[in-house]
Amino acid sequence: MKLGKYLAHGGIASRRKSKELILNGKVLVNGEVVTEPSYLVKKDDVVTYKDEVVEKEELVYYLVNKPRGVVSTVKDEKGRKTILDLLNDEDKDERVYPVGRLDYDSTGVLILTNDGELAYILTRPEYEVPKTYLVTAKGIITREAERKLRTGIELDGYRTREAKVSVKEKNNQKKTSLVEITITEGKNHQVREMFKAVGFPVKSLTRTHFSYLVIFTFSNCYFY
Ligand code: URA
Repeated sequence: MKLGKYLAHGGIASRRKSKELILNGKVLVNGEVVTEPSYLVKKDDVVTYKDEVVEKEELVYYLVNKPRGVVSTVKDEKGRKTILDLLNDEDKDERVYPVGRLDYDSTGVLILTNDGELAYILTRPEYEVPKTYLVTAKGIITREAERKLRTGIELDGYRTREAKVSVKEKNNQKKTSLVEITITEGKNHQVREMFKAVGFPVKSLTRTHFSYLVIFTFSNCYFY
């Protein structure tokens, strides 16, 4: 978190006033004056103002099983149900935000946190954090489509990375396929676009794993 925001969150002053205090050399980090409001406060930094330590905001983590029909943002212009509406009333005022997105119609693992460092690591493609989705696709998936999903697909001039793909079931009566796919990147609507591109559009999509976190069938669970 930037130093200016850190001070404001610590209740020292408004964002604007905090910035002024920093620019005027009133704030110390590990005993040294820092005059850069955009300085990124690290986990072990000790920030002081007027000889008092500015306490860190408590980090919170919620592991949510997102249902369908909920936007994975904290606000929605169209007034739809948001991911914050899934939290208990006493948890609602936390300054949390979702780590990555799940589409309105997608379900499954979503992490909410105010831990910017963790959010950064989980979402930056260079960290190659695996995310696994269980997809019900329209049609009986072919070996060729499976191969393309696995090796990479051209999407709007971008080639998707190698993915792990496992066909769990082909339902000849319903004419659907159940496919598990693990990707280590997260472009917008990536899984839906990949399946569309190989000719088997997604009927339903659920994220079952995010990194090493797993959601089973329980509804809302959170941990600190
Ligand atoms: N990929 C998608 O297409 N949608 C999601 O919700 C998540 C991953």
